[in-house]
Amino acid sequence: MIQARKWLRDAEHVVVLTGAGMSAESGIPTFRGPDGIWKQFRAEELATPQAFASRPNLVWEWYNWRRELIAKAEPHAGHQALAHMEACAPNFTLITQNVDGLEERVGIRNLVRLHGDIWETVCTRCGERRRNHDVPLSSMPPHCFCHPEALLRPGVVWYGEALPSSAWDRAVHAVEHADLLLVVGTSAVVYPASSLITLGIRHGAHTIEVNPQSTPLSNDMDLRLAGAASSILPSLASVFP
Ligand code: OAD
Repeated sequence: MIQARKWLRDAEHVVVLTGAGMSAESGIPTFRGPDGIWKQFRAEELATPQAFASRPNLVWEWYNWRRELIAKAEPHAGHQALAHMEACAPNFTLITQNVDGLEERVGIRNLVRLHGDIWETVCTRCGERRRNHDVPLSSMPPHCFCHPEALLRPGVVWYGEALPSSAWDRAVHAVEHADLLLVVGTSAVVYPASSLITLGIRHGAHTIEVNPQSTPLSNDMDLRLAGAASSILPSLASVFP
């Protein structure tokens, strides 16, 4: 922890990559692990373009359920600690795989969303995105107002889809310029997000993993802080006044 705090205090550009474990203590289940979402549900039946094409109502309903769950969640001390890091570090970028929006709720501004945003809907015809915080949405996917023949879909990235290119480019640029890469609450198994970690290592950033469990990339990182985001991150951020 002492070494980690020193790297954080001295870093010119702090980059944080988060995954579902960052939101776990806010009551949003992770995807893998004993109580993970993908233990109860099959990703290919709910989180692919093919699933939405064949059973749009089911997919829409599942995202409605997740929106209801997320709407009840509050950011925790770890999110506040990241906001404090952003306020104090010379440069700070938060790259997240999460779609819940808890980062914005604590005022984090330099945010890259790799996997989209559950609070957006997208027209399946023209791709127009709209924010919508209603919970729940209608029980069936509505038709787009601009293209009445087209359905709206959730604004998240599904398996088999490319990541939004601007988000990806921003993420790569940030990691290439990072001198500290903090990897929080991700199993580091979903590509291409996980490749940002190896990119950071290759570019010589100090790398720190915050996770109660080890991951396939744990041994490649400089430091591993085994524990929960809500306790480790405030302890790290306390290096700043
Ligand atoms: P996972 O569910 O795969 O991994 C969550 C990680 O968080 C695990 O390594 C846990 O050990 C760790 N964890 C759990 N509680 C924690 C806590 N309190 N503090 C810190 N870490 C904790 O989630 P992701 O790696 O985010 O993709 O999964 C990546 C992608 O797979 C998701 O974005 C989603 C999913 O399918 C899409 O939906 C496209």
